[in-house]
Order: sequence, then structure tokens, then C-alpha cells
Amino acid sequence: MAPRSVARGAPRKRGSGSGGDASTAPQFCWGAGIPLRGRIFLRKTLLRPAPSHHSRRRLSRIPSRKATVAPAETCSEVPLLIPPIQPPLLVLGIETSCDETGVALYHAQRGLLGHTLYSQTEMHSEYGGVVPELASRDHIRRVLPLLKQCLAQAGQELGDLGAIAYTQGPGLAGALLVGASIAASLGLALDIPVLGVHHLEGHLLSPLLSTPSPVFPFVALLVSGGHTQLMEVKGLGQYRLLGETVDDAAGEAFDKIAKLLGLAYPGGPALAKQADEFSRSGQRNPFRFPRPMLRSGDLNFSFSGLKTAALTLINQEELTNSTRGAIAHAFQEAVVEVLTEKCMNALTQTGLDQLVVAGGVGANRQLRQTLCQKAEVAGASIFFPELEFCTDNGAMIAFAGAMRLQAGITADHSGRTFAIKARWDLETQTDI
Ligand code: KG4
Ligand code: ZN
Repeated sequence: MAPRSVARGAPRKRGSGSGGDASTAPQFCWGAGIPLRGRIFLRKTLLRPAPSHHSRRRLSRIPSRKATVAPAETCSEVPLLIPPIQPPLLVLGIETSCDETGVALYHAQRGLLGHTLYSQTEMHSEYGGVVPELASRDHIRRVLPLLKQCLAQAGQELGDLGAIAYTQGPGLAGALLVGASIAASLGLALDIPVLGVHHLEGHLLSPLLSTPSPVFPFVALLVSGGHTQLMEVKGLGQYRLLGETVDDAAGEAFDKIAKLLGLAYPGGPALAKQADEFSRSGQRNPFRFPRPMLRSGDLNFSFSGLKTAALTLINQEELTNSTRGAIAHAFQEAVVEVLTEKCMNALTQTGLDQLVVAGGVGANRQLRQTLCQKAEVAGASIFFPELEFCTDNGAMIAFAGAMRLQAGITADHSGRTFAIKARWDLETQTDI
């Protein structure tokens, strides 16, 4: 989760640089997840002996920095003073940017070893939205038990950790501080690197946790409660903004209309459920909302006018189950059509043929279905994260951290300080 508008932040500094060369670099491979009881999800690795065709292709494109070694001809004479440093194998990921506490362990060779998640939605539902102070306090309560649980699931101990990645921003300041301080303290105690990760980079890379996975370059639609952006992703840390919402995020609009319709928090999934039920009923929908900025000629979005149109209609109509379903359906249709059309335009504009959809709204069934249909017609491939990794989670942060370390980005050890960035533009993540 992120603030509703994101200001440009200062670019992150490049670390001192260490990384394995091609022969020593660990290979990534990807596991698959299994949801367990309640709202806590644990994930076990499915070990894969050999990386897939896709992973191999992707690996060759991950830029890796050379380790500091003596030239070959002097190796026999000069003792190696600085041994080649390999990226850490086991990375702990901590996500606390909004109302989900996520912890995960990603192993550079064995894939995702475990992930645990606690969603605060029940606590916030009483207030109809996230209460930042309550969110921070709950992260404090959850993060260490989740870490313990995650380590136990993965059969690992604290001493096995090689590095820690945490969500540094954007998000709620107090919530981010919990993850940042836990990461910094653990890093200090274990004397291992700590790396701040951009929340949206986590989302953006999350489809790489599944197979088949996209290969750089691709177009990414980041569509969550705080963002609606189209990005051209040329490689890790190489992001070009193609277009974004000029006002509200799509997820925010889903949440607000759901609230107006009297649906439970969080609104997105509740509204989608109503819309899908209406669709299945086979009734003709008497309502149709405008498609904002559909023909704007650029790749920007706007959802505030759509919100106003829905509000006006809701005020006019008697809210029976049937009208509620029809309004939800008409609203979802409008959002899905605009998102789909702009994604297709982004592919045409960039000449790319792979689309990645990430962020909470990416869990929307209608959006997935429509995008798949359009992509097939356009001859493009489309990649979604697994449903459990659409919304906020620790796995995407551990994975993004592991990829950064693999690419030679090192954590800032200086003084073991930490800084969160409540507002942070993804385009400034250019330190690869
Ligand atoms: O990525 P996320 O977990 O948190 C942010 O970074 O914002 O996204 C949460 C957003 C919320 O607005 C939620 O209502 C929306 O994603 N969302 C959905 C669905 N599932 C979650 N919106 C529409 N349909 C869904 N199935
Ligand atoms: Zn998010």
C-alpha cells in the first residue's frame, strides 16, 4: 500500500558493489505456494532440479557485477587478499508498508522456502479503512511471531540468514518504520547486510516467482490501492513510466464505491464478488458508466470522475440487491475496459509483447480474463503473480532483495542506520 500520490524521491545511492561472477553466481529457481488455514499463509518450496528455459533466459539478463580478483596471470604469485564475495544465499523479506505483515525466506538456489502473512483487514474493517496508528501497532505485534513461524516452516534458523530485505517505501510511515527497525536490529545482531526495497518493485517482480515467467523487457501494469501505473521494464532497476492515474488509483476507486454500496472492507474483492454474481445471473445491466480517458491518446488514467458518476447513481437509486449488483458490475466493467485498453496501447507503443500485471487489483477475475482475451488477439503474453502474491506479501520483498543482491547491489552498512521513504517514485530506482 502506498500514499495516494507519490512525489519524486531522491535516488538511492549505489552500494559499494560486490557480486559473484558468472561461475560463482547462484542460480535462481522458483517454488510454488500452498495456502494453509485462516488468513495466515505458509509456503513450502518445491525444489526444482534445473531452472526452466524461462529462468535460464532471465538469468542471463540479470546484470551481475564482477567480484574483485587478481588478473589471471598473477594469481599464482599474489595471494588473494579480497576473496570473491558471493551474494547471500538466504534472504529474509519483511513487508509492513500498510495493513499486511508479510515475512518470507527466499533462497537464491532453492527458491522460496517459506512465507507467512497476517492481514489486518478484520481490525480495520470496523473503521471502513486503514487506521495508520493501529496498523503500526499491529505490525509490531505480528512481525516476530511470523518470522519465527516462517523460519520453522522453512527449517532454517536466524544464523542461516545471509541478508535482510525490507520494504523501505512507499507506504504508511509508522508501518514502514516497524519493518525497517526490525530489519536493522536483526542485521546488526547477525552482522549481515540489510537492504531497503521499493514496494512497487516487489509487486512488479512478483510474477517472476511463478513459472512461466516474463523475460526483460516487458510492460508492467501496477494496479493497487495506491497506484495505477504503466511501466516499461527494461531490466532490474530500469523502469520508465509510460502513464499513470492523474487522480485516484483503481484500487482506491474500487474501495470507495464498495463503501458507498455498503459492502464490507476491503472493498475491491467485495465489489468484484457482487459484480461477478450479477454477471452470472445473466440479467441485462441497465447501467453503464463512462470510460474515463479511454481516448485520451496517452497512457494516463483517471478514476475520480467514474467515482462521482457512481456516487450520483447510488444516490438516485434504491439500493436493492439487484441494483447493488448491477452498479458493481457496471463499475467493474468500466475500470476493466480502461485498464485493458491502455495496457494494449502500451504494448503497441513500446513494441513489446509481454505484459505483467501486479498489485492487489491484479487479483480481479474479470480483469485477468479480459486481459488474457485481448492479449491473445494481440499475440502478446501476459503474466500475473499467483493470487496470494497479488496483494502485499513478504515473498515479493525477499525476492526483489535477492535479485538486487544477485545483481551486485549491496546494502548500506554505514552506521547501521535506516531510513524509510513514505513517498518514493519507482522511476528513481535506477541504481543497477
Ligand atoms: O497491492 P495491495 O495489496 O496494496 C497496495 O499496495 O495498495 O492492493 C490493495 C488493493 C485494494 O484497493 C483492494 O481493494 C484491491 O487491491 N483489490 C481488488 C481485488 N483484490 C484486491 N480490487 C478489485 N478486485 C479484486 N479482486
Ligand atoms: Zn502493495
